[in-house]
Amino acid sequence: MTYFILKYLHVIGAVILLGTGAGIAFFMLMAHVTGKAATIAAVARIVVIADFVFTATAVVAQPITGLLLTWHVGYAVTDAWIFWSIVLYAVTGAFWLPVVWMQMQMRDLAQQAATEGADLPRRYHTLFWWWSAFGVPAFAAVLAIFWLMIARPQALSLLG
Ligand code: HEM
Repeated sequence: MTYFILKYLHVIGAVILLGTGAGIAFFMLMAHVTGKAATIAAVARIVVIADFVFTATAVVAQPITGLLLTWHVGYAVTDAWIFWSIVLYAVTGAFWLPVVWMQMQMRDLAQQAATEGADLPRRYHTLFWWWSAFGVPAFAAVLAIFWLMIARPQALSLLG
């Protein structure tokens, strides 16, 4: 029973990480292409809240349920698929933390432009470029972890 509860929580966490990540990227992109500062500010405000409530909770819980599963089932953290998942997880975190900060900056810049009735500043567009550039590897690493978790290759070859 402990195994199923841990695995249930772990899979729910995985779904939240992937789903919130994809959802946030989609809504931010859709708001961005409108070019309207007020729309971008409103969407970015919600996106930042969603990241703190859903993504941050799953980010903390995922390695905890993952490591508990590792010990419960009797795997070792040095098993190839677990080891590389942990490395990729660190990569994801390293890209995701600046993304959250950028979203907050973009939210504030868009809000300021909306209040003043001004165009979106150059810095907003620079941040949007970096947000995209950091988001892609973070998301790709999560997809790769999904593969490792499901295929569980015993050797470094991804085909197992
Ligand atoms: C960060 C450290 C992590 C560790 C130590 C870890 C560990 C584990 C372990 C030991 C299992 C297998 C449980 C079993 O034998 O049934 C598992 C399954 C799974 N993990 Fe992770 N995990 C981690 C992160 C993640 C992440 C970030 C994701 C996706 C976002 C993820 C998605 C999954 C999924 C979908 C399964 C179920 C695979 C299946 O049953 O076919 N894990 N994890």
